[in-house]
Formats: sequence, C-alpha cells, structure tokens
Amino acid sequence: MSWQLSEPAFWRRPERERAAVFARLRHLDAPVFFPERRSGRHAGAAAGFTALVRHRDVVAASRRPEVFRSGHGVTTPRPARWARLLLGDSMVNLDDPRHAELRGIVARAFTPRVLARAAADIDHVAAEIAGTVGAGRDGDFVTAVAAVLPLRVICSMMGIPAARWTQVLRQVDATSSHTALRRMPGSGLSDLLRLQHLVAEVAHRRRREPAGDLISALVAADLGRRELGSFFSLLLVAGVETTRNAIAHALWLLTRHPEQRDLLLTDFDRYGPGFADEVIRYSSPIVQFRRTVAVDVELHGHWLRAGQDVMLCYASANRDETVFAEPERFDLTRSPNPHVGFGGGGPHFCLGAVLARQELTAIFRQLLTRFPAIRATGPPGYVPSSFDHRIRRLPFAI
Ligand code: HEM
Repeated sequence: MSWQLSEPAFWRRPERERAAVFARLRHLDAPVFFPERRSGRHAGAAAGFTALVRHRDVVAASRRPEVFRSGHGVTTPRPARWARLLLGDSMVNLDDPRHAELRGIVARAFTPRVLARAAADIDHVAAEIAGTVGAGRDGDFVTAVAAVLPLRVICSMMGIPAARWTQVLRQVDATSSHTALRRMPGSGLSDLLRLQHLVAEVAHRRRREPAGDLISALVAADLGRRELGSFFSLLLVAGVETTRNAIAHALWLLTRHPEQRDLLLTDFDRYGPGFADEVIRYSSPIVQFRRTVAVDVELHGHWLRAGQDVMLCYASANRDETVFAEPERFDLTRSPNPHVGFGGGGPHFCLGAVLARQELTAIFRQLLTRFPAIRATGPPGYVPSSFDHRIRRLPFAI
C-alpha cells in the first residue's frame, strides 16, 4: 500500500486504508518528510512537507503561530499568487499583526444579536428542510438536506437576498472544487469574482441602510471592499462545504451504527451535543491544513527546519489512540472529546464552530423526530481530496 501522502493516488484510496497508514505513521519515532513533485515553472524544484500526525504535535503547532506560520497559504493546493493579489487575502492565510486585526473586526461583528438571529434561523430553516423531505421521495441526501442548511444559514447571516442563493451555491461548488483532485470544469477566478461582486453590491446597500446582519456590522467596522469580499468567500467555502460534509457524514454514521442512533433517539437533548462533536471527530471534514516553519524548532524531541512546510493532519490526530480510547469506535457518549476537527486551538481556531454544532444538532433533531427511520440506503459518493472529506452524493430513504 502506498505511504506517499504527497501522491494523489494516496487520497483516492478508501478511508480505511488511509487511516491504517496514519496509524503506522503515528507509531514511528519521528515525523516523516514527504517529497512533492511540482509542475509548471516550478518543475524540478525541491518541495515537500513534514506530516504532523499525532494529536499533541497538531495541537502544539496550532498554538505557536509565531513559529508555524499561515502566510504562505494553508490549503492544499495553495491559493494561487494571482488570486491572492487580485482578490485579497482571507484571514486563514494571514499572520499577525494583520490576522489579529481582521479577526478582531470579524469577531466583533459576530455580536450576540447576529448569533441569536442565526440560532433562530437555523431552527427555522432546519424545520423547513425537514418538512420538504417529508414529501415521501427517496433521493440524494446531499442535495435535499446537507447542502441546503449551511448555505441558507450563511447567506441569511450575511443578508444575501434569497433570489441569489442558488447562484451562490453554484459558485461555492466551483470555487471549492480547486481543492479536489478532480476539478470541475470552468471553475476558478470568474466564480470568485462573481461572489465578490455580489457581496459588494449588498455592502453598498447596507452602508446606506444598515439591517442588523453580518454585512451591516462589517461595513460599520470599516472592512474594505476587497476584505469584505474575501471574508465572504472564506465564510462560504469554510462554512458551507465543511458543514455540508459533516451533515452527510452524520447520516452515514448513524446508519452504520444503529445502536448509537437508538441512543440518540432516547434523549436528543442529552446526547445531541456529544453526537455533533463525535461526528466532527470521526469524520474530520477538514483533513489537513498547512503551516510553514519560520525558525528552526524542536517539536517533542524532533527538529523542524526553517522554511519547511508542515501538514497538520486533523484526520490522523482525531484517531490518536493515546488521546481517544478505541478511536475507531463511533461513540456519541465520548467524554471528554478533545478532537481537533475545528483546529488544534490557537488564533486561527474555527470561527464557526458554534454555528456548525448548532446546524448539526438542529437538523438531526428535526429529521429524527419526524422520521426516526431515516437512513442512508447505500454508501456515499466521495470526491477524492487531500484537503477535505467531501461527500457529493448519499442515497437515503425515510
Ligand atoms: C463542520 C464544520 C466545520 C469544520 C470541520 C471547520 C473546520 C475548520 C478548521 C480546521 C479551521 C482551521 C483552524 C486552524 O487553523 O487552527 C477553520 C477555520 C475557520 N472556519 Fe471553520 N469549520 C467548520 C464550519 C465553519 C463555519 C460554519 C464557519 C462560518 C460561519 C467557519 C468559518 C471559519 C473561519 C472564518 C475560519 C478561519 C479562522 C482564522 O483563520 O482565524 N467554519 N475551520
């Protein structure tokens, strides 16, 4: 079996096999360096990354942003230079002081009022979606449920008019397809530009007539046009794709573990929060983020050199047997559950973790209350990616 985490072939292997490789890597004495082939004008240049696969290494690197920097880009593949120059940087790819400045502005805009509205909205939208599922048709869970909730929540938080939601979804799919191993045709710059244009339009209106939504708060805090656009694109890609995958994984997990689903049905209030976190741990919707080492550093007895890239492998850290008893068991009563699905802590920790948990619990509360027998009727159709754990189709019945 190929060990080469830098080869696309590795990410096309079944999840079980990848998990077995991570387990072997966790047991080695030192983190492993994986050389990467480069294409285009960088062909032949030495490149590669050191994989941090243990929980304690991922946490330590996440919490030392002065050494483990984000400025070179954290996604795989890295954002293109032209895109960063043209569209501005989203905060996930920035270091301090700019990151702290932007995160401060954005965090202030997630006011109790904005979050309370979002929570009410999540319950309302979840009920509406569950209502349409009740039409009695079997079908694809991703299109019918998982893709709808996160998109509507973010768009309504931002104040994007309902008439534009379908367009936004199309553009999110095209934009995020650059991190998949099989790209959608025609994706890229034009989609990003359209998203930025849309948000600029709404911002322009909110400047004159504030409406209590996130865009109004952000323009009041003086976030510029480019920054607003790149923040919205980040929210869409970070908040829609991830949560959609988490919701789809959740149904697949409940189907494969009927005893856990029975437990959840006995008392949703009690088990719901643990369910959300265990779904995130078990499925790791974001598989990895990258960092670049700024100065030579010793990490738990091993030296990493300045300039080197490291992979923070959340998918592996979330199965670390030194932290999680029987890590391959899906157990919604797991407590504590210090998973790193939303990041390993530190200044880039997921800004939407609370929202994502709310979305997962709200939609399954609605679905399981109305259709206790809801289940996947076949395995998920995965999109191979080294970056996220993406499900594009999941047949289901109620
Ligand atoms: C299941 C759903 C989600 C997962 C698994 C997830 C995971 C992550 C991870 C792993 C990071 C990087 C953390 C780090 O580098 O330390 C992150 C960052 C981020 N997430 Fe999420 N996320 C989810 C949902 C959301 C939602 C719903 C939103 C928006 C409301 C969101 C917004 C963000 C933003 C803005 C960042 C960048 C923060 C920064 O760089 O300061 N995420 N997320």
